[in-house]
Amino acid sequence: MKLRLLAIIFTCALIAACTKDKVYLDTPLDQLLNSSLVRAADDNRADHFLLPESDDFANIPQDPRNPLTKDKVELGKMLFFETGIALSPSKEAGKKTYSCASCHVPSAGFRPGGVQGIADGGIGFGANGENRSKLAAYRDFEMDVQGVRPLSVLNVAFVENTTWDGRFGSKGVNVGTEDRWTHDRGLHLNEEGMSALETQNIEGLEVHRMEITEEVLDDYGYRTYFDQAFSDDTEAERYSKRNAAFAISAYLRTLLTNQSPFQEYLKGNKDAMNEQEKKGALVFFSDAKCYHCHKEKNLGANEFYALGVNDLYQTGLAFNTSAEDKSNLGRGQFTGEAEDNYKFKIPQLYNLGDAPFFFHGSSKKTLKDVVHYFNDGIPENANVPASQVARQFKPLNLTPEQVEDLTVFLETGLRDPNLNRYVPEKILSGFCFPNNDLFSQIELGCGE
Ligand code: HEC
Ligand code: HEC
Repeated sequence: MKLRLLAIIFTCALIAACTKDKVYLDTPLDQLLNSSLVRAADDNRADHFLLPESDDFANIPQDPRNPLTKDKVELGKMLFFETGIALSPSKEAGKKTYSCASCHVPSAGFRPGGVQGIADGGIGFGANGENRSKLAAYRDFEMDVQGVRPLSVLNVAFVENTTWDGRFGSKGVNVGTEDRWTHDRGLHLNEEGMSALETQNIEGLEVHRMEITEEVLDDYGYRTYFDQAFSDDTEAERYSKRNAAFAISAYLRTLLTNQSPFQEYLKGNKDAMNEQEKKGALVFFSDAKCYHCHKEKNLGANEFYALGVNDLYQTGLAFNTSAEDKSNLGRGQFTGEAEDNYKFKIPQLYNLGDAPFFFHGSSKKTLKDVVHYFNDGIPENANVPASQVARQFKPLNLTPEQVEDLTVFLETGLRDPNLNRYVPEKILSGFCFPNNDLFSQIELGCGE
């Protein structure tokens, strides 16, 4: 008996992962995957790609000026969805109808349900945000829309410089770009030296036409939540828009896809991924070399490349953007350097299957199409000079089976099935969310 136990312990130590209640024997596929994960990790650690738990505040990257607390997360969780702070719309018809989550829809992987995010000036929701369209009273330029598809805010704690062109944040790749920190697009805020997330979200509340007023504090009842979250501040400073941005930032840092099959697998549950997902992961972390770029914990990276994909205006479905839109220049718009033109940040890869639009211009509709695009290695956008396109973007010669497996890994292996834990049960105004226009109220089943 003793011998058998010893043998099990020995086997565990040698080739298997043992969790508290179960002993998993690694299959040859697990062993292959494990060694490719270790090789792919730039620190050569098997847990390199392991995300922290959402309440493990000590291990979630944060801004020392805005340390994570439960109270801030709780407040931010409501404000992110609060349609009652939509108080500076460009037209009266938009008042109290939109929220951050209009463009970052949880069931769509915290991305929009359509090709473009529409907040102020939008109407409708559908089942997943896909029905949002233009409110008749608005002209295109009056809408709150951007020339690039909203990025997901999942795993954003691991993004050092936010947005597709990485313009927010004073550190990371933005060291040396100080001359670009002008009042244009709120970039002077970089001067304060905060993390990108806090910096961007202060500007985000402006851009998206939101306010913290007496009505918000006293009629809805947010004052006591600010009291709890920001008790260190004087009362004069406490109820500010800036603190609203800090609370939202704290909440966003906890949006981690740590219940996805791949993450469960990394935690030691070798049954969390099926055989095809494991094979797909192996393709990602070996033959297809996806990990050369998608290499951080969130499977994104703070680097910029041109893949020559089409821009948002080319879908023919986006408002207030065109061939002249400077957003099409990517990182080059921000730095003003020709060598950065058409280069975009490497995005995170979790829960992408929840909304069918990929790349900064929503040019691809399925993950299979995305994988084919990488496998073919042929740029689709004639405006992007070949000299700008990443040299790694070339035919990969994956077999049809590898393409299939890789697609499944992206679709289900990297899908956290339980994002609902990040959605509040209610917001204090009691209004409909993420949208509160008449159509959305009907579709969301929450109108009067
Ligand atoms: C009208 C749609 C829209 C609304 C509303 C909106 N966003 Fe966004 N969000 C975007 C777009 C578009 C991007 C990408 C911007 C870019 O690259 O220039 C983005 C990017 C982000 C990012 C950066 C993610 C990354 O990985 O770099 C964060 C963080 C974010 N939004 C937070 C918020 C918060 C907080 C709010 C509410 C205050 C909000 N957003 C409201 C459209 C929207
Ligand atoms: C040269 C670096 C590089 C390599 C290699 C690379 N990617 Fe990417 N990936 C990017 C960049 C940059 C983007 C954003 C491009 C854009 O939208 O303009 C991106 C976007 C994506 C997207 C779309 C995400 C979204 O939010 O729309 C997916 C999916 C993706 N990559 C998967 C892969 C897979 C799978 C591989 C391996 C076959 C791979 N990538 C290899 C740099 C890379």
